[in-house]
Amino acid sequence: MKPAEFQKAVLHWFDQHGRTSLPWQQNTSAYRVWVSEIMLQQTQVSTVIPYYLRFMKSFPSVEDLANAPLDEILHHWTGLGYYARARNLHKTAQQVSKELNGKFPSTVEQLCELPGIGRSTAGAISAIAFHQQAAILDGNVKRVLARFGAISGWPGKADVVDALWTLAQRNTPYQRIADYTQAMMDLGATLCTRSSPNCPACPLAKKCIAYKQGNPQDYPGKKPKKAIPIRNTCFLMISNNKGELLLQQNPPTGLWGGLWIFPQCDTTDCINQALKALGVNAQDYRVLNAKRHTFSHFHLDYQPIAVNVGATEIFKDRVSEKGNQVWYNPQKPISLGMPAPIKALFDGLNS
Ligand code: ADE
Repeated sequence: MKPAEFQKAVLHWFDQHGRTSLPWQQNTSAYRVWVSEIMLQQTQVSTVIPYYLRFMKSFPSVEDLANAPLDEILHHWTGLGYYARARNLHKTAQQVSKELNGKFPSTVEQLCELPGIGRSTAGAISAIAFHQQAAILDGNVKRVLARFGAISGWPGKADVVDALWTLAQRNTPYQRIADYTQAMMDLGATLCTRSSPNCPACPLAKKCIAYKQGNPQDYPGKKPKKAIPIRNTCFLMISNNKGELLLQQNPPTGLWGGLWIFPQCDTTDCINQALKALGVNAQDYRVLNAKRHTFSHFHLDYQPIAVNVGATEIFKDRVSEKGNQVWYNPQKPISLGMPAPIKALFDGLNS
């Protein structure tokens, strides 16, 4: 299929079936498109929408974001996961605001130099916000193109992803580039789905090799399976007689960097030792039901431990001297970024 034919079929389908009322499709400034593309990395549209709307209300411009404390941004990210995205968002906002006069660059090469922006995200920003001929290759588009060209193998491998980029590049138009970019994402998200593609409704079906072969589900190839390891931890939910719980801030880098979590210990055998190290004098504690949180590369099995310390100990004021511990009142929450499992434990207290 010639590129012009491919583009015509995709755009014709988009005019009838494409999504046009997503919040980031209204007023497509580079700032708004950039935030949406970062949020949409590894996260579904339906999950992103409420986060995006709250985020734009709090940080309407790149300067607002650059000047906001990281904690405030992480707070808005609570529950979205992949928190490095939020930290990079802050860094990029500061770079654009302070070094680039508040203006995002328009080319893929320049966009790729900013923290957290890879080739596909750069392509999407360049195409949607600046109407430049730039290709994208996110997860949805990989699936569409792998099936269309019957490109086998796992796209984590260099030769496979190279072949997909070549196909993406070849078919990317100069005209209506923003609509085309959105159309490719929409095709992957709504028709060319992972497990039940609706091939009869697809504008590319006539020339789709995988469809012709009868095995679209075989594309793209799967990542070779490796059992993901399990790590264990205990979360110490230390509460005082005011109903406040002790939270500690993680160091800025690493897992859940900069987020606020319960103090931890490795196993239930070291609870007393951990409490002692924290300066807590607890009479007893309750071991609650264990839960699992799955990251991309390991399972975290965590055991919540309820510890009541009666009168406030450790420090009398709400915040410790170093500022990395707070007594957090779930009834009067302050803006702290927390990972989803910690938020879920708080939600469990109220139910
Ligand atoms: N996924 C990544 N970017 C997207 C966009 N602009 N619209 C819908 N889904 C997307």
